[in-house]
Amino acid sequence: MTQYFTEERSAEAVNGCMGETTDPRIREVMACLVKHLHAFAKEINLTQAEWQVGIDFLTKTGQICSGERQEFILLSDTLGFSMLVDAINNRRPPGATENTVFGPFHVDGAPIRSMGDTISLDGKGESCLYQGRVIDLDGRPVEGARIDVWSDNADGFYDVQQPEFQPKWNNRGIFATGADGSYSFIGIKPVSYPIPDDGPVGQMLNRLGRHPYRPAHMHYLVTAAGFQKLVTHTFVGDDPYLGSDTVFGVKTSLIAPFEPATNGRTQWQSTFDFVLTPG
Ligand code: BEZ
Ligand code: FE
Repeated sequence: MTQYFTEERSAEAVNGCMGETTDPRIREVMACLVKHLHAFAKEINLTQAEWQVGIDFLTKTGQICSGERQEFILLSDTLGFSMLVDAINNRRPPGATENTVFGPFHVDGAPIRSMGDTISLDGKGESCLYQGRVIDLDGRPVEGARIDVWSDNADGFYDVQQPEFQPKWNNRGIFATGADGSYSFIGIKPVSYPIPDDGPVGQMLNRLGRHPYRPAHMHYLVTAAGFQKLVTHTFVGDDPYLGSDTVFGVKTSLIAPFEPATNGRTQWQSTFDFVLTPG
């Protein structure tokens, strides 16, 4: 006898419609999504008015997206989903540097710079020497590692957010390690900043009584042949938003020392080693 849709067997009714030849992974992912989505509506007794609010929210989230703005990633980030997917996919052995959220402000093709060069081009902010080594789990230097770095400027904006005010490639650069695995460059001590909050995600944060701030951090993308890609940040330890990062990116192991400099060139210095995982 044909089994029609009922509240009790709603998810089974939907999942039972999939074709015989559906790709097994798509089948698994969609069946699980439908199961949990239906369970969610049942658990909270979702009203039709509430679901309309949800549809309107998702519609606005899509409508504000453009080549420069990806509101769905911000939604994923602020719901902790980006960090969860990152954690599931980047389980690392003890001692290895941990991953954190990539964020929307990386730009491919930053200038390749020499060790010790300055990435801050707008003359703003408190100068900081970043230094350390790229090493493997046994402490051996990794030669030829590519270190792609980016940060906000002293006003809390990435260059791509202010193309009319900031020099192109401000606070960005790519460095390659030599035989000793060491790196150094001069940037600024970064500042905390709000993620773009003038769209539906900002309204959601506001409704939830949440602020849109990220604690100050320097971004790193470290790649080397034979090792897993490392997407991470170092965080400034005394930042007031460390305990409430709006995208949940903070990990204890990524809080770096930022100390008054002794090098005579910069105001601050921050030493941090990146320990790569074989891959
Ligand atoms: C960032 O750190 O650049 C970032 C991460 C997630 C959302 C927005 C910005
Ligand atoms: Fe950032």
